[in-house]
Amino acid sequence: MNEHHIPVMLNESLDLLITDQSGVYFDATLGFGGHTTEILKRLNKNGRIVAADVDADAFEYSLKKFSKKNRVSLYNYNYSFVDVIAKIESLKYFNGVLADLGVSSFQLDNPESGFTFRADAPLDLRMDKTKEITAADVVNSYKEEELADIFFKYGEEKNSRKIARSIVQKRILKRIETTKEVTEIISDLVPENFLKKTLARIFQALRIYVNDELDNLKLFLENSVKVLKKGGRIVVISYHSLEDRIVKDFFKNETIVSLSPKEDPLGLVKREARLKLVNKKPIVPSEIEIKKNYRARSAKLRAAERL
Ligand SMILES: C[S@@+](CC[C@H](N)C(=O)[O-])C[C@H]1O[C@@H](n2cnc3c(N)ncnc32)[C@H](O)[C@@H]1O
Repeated sequence: MNEHHIPVMLNESLDLLITDQSGVYFDATLGFGGHTTEILKRLNKNGRIVAADVDADAFEYSLKKFSKKNRVSLYNYNYSFVDVIAKIESLKYFNGVLADLGVSSFQLDNPESGFTFRADAPLDLRMDKTKEITAADVVNSYKEEELADIFFKYGEEKNSRKIARSIVQKRILKRIETTKEVTEIISDLVPENFLKKTLARIFQALRIYVNDELDNLKLFLENSVKVLKKGGRIVVISYHSLEDRIVKDFFKNETIVSLSPKEDPLGLVKREARLKLVNKKPIVPSEIEIKKNYRARSAKLRAAERL
């Protein structure tokens, strides 16, 4: 397996994350250990890192990579279990939590992972291969309206209905098994100059749906706050507007003490703000980073501090 994933906004994210060099940090998206390696370098001998990845290949790879590091504990878990992982580690709190969302370059570039429409691969798209439903199951068994909703909701695809209709017509003749078959169906519907972007949106939609990415992200944010030490930070790098909106809204909501008059007309709900924003606007990668690493182009970094 080739380690060619370049960590995105490495310095920007870690400058915000690390507030105590002797602390224990959670890297929610271990991947190939790019961020984890750098966090370790920045901690002193008392500091340690706990990290998770739901993808068995990334987990196995990093398990070998960090096998000699006794200050690293790794879990092949979904990051939404951040609070459970803290319990297993006998920790009440983490000093900081980092999530670098989405998929790694390995997953995108490795045809066997089936994440890319650029190669012909089984239509799978599961990060966690123990999950029951694959993208092929969705494409072959969901009703036309359900497929259209998935493409629209998770891919923000304007031609969602047309694409769903064509898929349903084609699958009557033969079960759709590969990424290439989906690509061919869509290329018959969309002009050449829009094709790449449409394919990216459709594959993104299927990936988000199959992996339940948005609900996992919401759970992760909620559970992270429960196990984040006061003064500790939660730092999230997202790659598309749906993810970024969830992070933005969650942080904003957690900084608010009272609800709006519309939500709570009598002003009865008293809440305690749990977070304060570290950066009001998202931080984006420099031009130099984008030139070196095209995958970084859509990244947005947000950070908030536990009160
Ligand atoms: C962008 S990569 C992280 C790369 C890593 N920061 C590095 O520098 O090597 C995102 C990783 O998050 C993992 N991932 C996505 N959703 C997850 C989830 N719900 N729980 C745990 N890991 C997840 C993916 O499998 C992938 O390896």
